[in-house]
Amino acid sequence: MEGKFITFEGCEGAGKSTQIRLLSEYLTKCGVAHTVTREPGGSEISEAIRRVILNGKFTEMTDECEALLYAAARAQHLSDTVLPALRRGEIVLCDRYIFSSFAYQGYGRGLSLPFLRDINAYAIQNFMPDVTLFLNIAPVQAFARKHGADENDRIEQAGEAFHQRVYEGYLELLQKYPESMVSIDCSGSKFETHGRIVETLRRRGIV
Ligand code: TYD
Repeated sequence: MEGKFITFEGCEGAGKSTQIRLLSEYLTKCGVAHTVTREPGGSEISEAIRRVILNGKFTEMTDECEALLYAAARAQHLSDTVLPALRRGEIVLCDRYIFSSFAYQGYGRGLSLPFLRDINAYAIQNFMPDVTLFLNIAPVQAFARKHGADENDRIEQAGEAFHQRVYEGYLELLQKYPESMVSIDCSGSKFETHGRIVETLRRRGIV
């Protein structure tokens, strides 16, 4: 595969969209062809699945159904958006990927990690990112920056304990996957965080 696949992870309000925007502006300035996309979504069918997953009305959705829908959206998005862009030689900046399923459905909802690994291995056919940047900020601080949760979003409404479990899950995943995941300190300004991201990508020869 020609291009490079960079995924962003973090809790709600960690600043992923801001950092993806800043990195995209930086790449544009450097004349680097890239695609910005997100999960769940990022292609027509996956955006339709996203509307089902996040619909605030579906309070009775089972955890298993939720996990399978994320994996289904992921499989379609990979095939429709990510792989074609990589084949064109572009850098792909993707907001969330499989570590979100491990953190949210695994550590957050309590589903078994081997089950999540199996359904996701099937969904992505073992296609892993070149690097996953974890924007490291605890949910309490992140929510404070964001001024509270979105009341129409099923996952954002899941409560403080849920989001704390997700965060602690990410910290465990960092230990388990040290080659894939890099922790980015987000305690400073958004420009400091951006600088750390560019530095990390340079060190790995990605930009
Ligand atoms: P989004 O509004 O994009 O949230 P954010 O801006 O924080 O990324 O909604 C995505 C939500 O879906 C978010 O709450 C995390 C959740 N999610 C999972 O629970 N599992 C997954 O595999 C993915 C990709 C996302």
